[in-house]
Amino acid sequence: MNEYSNSPLYRVAIIGCGKRARAHVPGLLADSRCTVVALADVSRAAADAMNTDYGFGAAVYLDHRELLERERPDVVIVTLWTPLHLPVYKDCVAAGVRAVLSEKPMAPAWGECLEIARIAEESGCQLTFCHQRRFAQGNQLARHLIAEGRLGKLERMDLFSPPNLLDCGTHTLDQALSFNEEIPAKWVLGAVDTTQLLQWFGVSAEGMATGTLVFGNGVRASIQVGGPDMDLWGGVRVTGSEGFLEVLWDGQFQRAVVYADPAWQPPTLPDETADAPMIGVVRNALDCLESGAEPELSYQKALRASEIIFALYESVRSHTRVALPLTGVSDNPFLTMLANGEFEQNEEKPNHD
Ligand SMILES: NC(=O)c1ccc[n+]([C@@H]2O[C@H](COP(=O)([O-])OP(=O)(O)OC[C@H]3O[C@@H](n4cnc5c(N)ncnc54)[C@H](O)[C@@H]3O)[C@@H](O)[C@H]2O)c1
Repeated sequence: MNEYSNSPLYRVAIIGCGKRARAHVPGLLADSRCTVVALADVSRAAADAMNTDYGFGAAVYLDHRELLERERPDVVIVTLWTPLHLPVYKDCVAAGVRAVLSEKPMAPAWGECLEIARIAEESGCQLTFCHQRRFAQGNQLARHLIAEGRLGKLERMDLFSPPNLLDCGTHTLDQALSFNEEIPAKWVLGAVDTTQLLQWFGVSAEGMATGTLVFGNGVRASIQVGGPDMDLWGGVRVTGSEGFLEVLWDGQFQRAVVYADPAWQPPTLPDETADAPMIGVVRNALDCLESGAEPELSYQKALRASEIIFALYESVRSHTRVALPLTGVSDNPFLTMLANGEFEQNEEKPNHD
């Protein structure tokens, strides 16, 4: 008997058996509701290695559509490069999958983000994106301190993210949104540096980006994504009327200061393994599948971070401040500008060689 004795057992499939697939395994192993029945990868060696390393005894497929057709999984983990998130989600919906836990970012272009959200809304197939740092205890402590008013009224945030806006910026913007009651931005102004171009997970991107954003409740933020002087730390500093706090990029709590009570210290958190947030990812998605509640990593939340990213790129294209909700844009303005030769054709640096 365990806490899920009365819950259904979910037949889980993993599509894409690379690095992130392995990062999801601790979450699957920790949840007794999950049994991994099938793996798909265009590389048989990658799928076989996962099957052996974790002793899944799963069926292995080279084609994810064949897996979906034959195995009819309840839950699918999509750990593929970014351009495949939308088409594979569509295939999962067509196969009657109940929940898809997809890797971030949502998709390479804003129109594709809207499309995947539309399909999720219409189909009812639960869709989450792996902004797993929401489950890191440092981020949770930060949210708790902000919610109890420890910092007073929120005023501003300083966001420092590894490169690039789409790939890592989505985590940092999601972190910022989670600290500010999930309130969408109302306008943004952005710039990119293309001295160094990046090619990450199948999408070209800038080497560095900066921007200013203002949220609907007046909280403002500045963001630096990548660039030469990231030697300080990556993460978020939240400043309120009565104090400030800092959380690192991976959700590790750094410090909090309350101006009126300099002796006050936030609680010390126990050490946390890198796997711990991934346990929350699976647990919360399945709990919400059963209760019908919005998951902590819902596509609706991912959409807010994505909207800021594409609005920042649109700001670069239009040379103007861009108001949200973002309208009249369906492409990735950065990729369109790149294709149109609007940036110097610098060599792209891949994150996978
Ligand atoms: N949440 C995070 O913190 C985090 C961290 C790193 C990367 N990511 C994201 O995770 C995603 C995957 O990254 P990764 O590092 O696991 O990549 P990876 O290259 O290690 O793994 C991808 C796997 O997919 C397989 N594959 C390619 N095309 C396929 C297809 N059509 N069908 C089945 N398998 C196919 C490849 O053979 C490979 O084994 C990216 O979108 C990336 O942005 C998220």
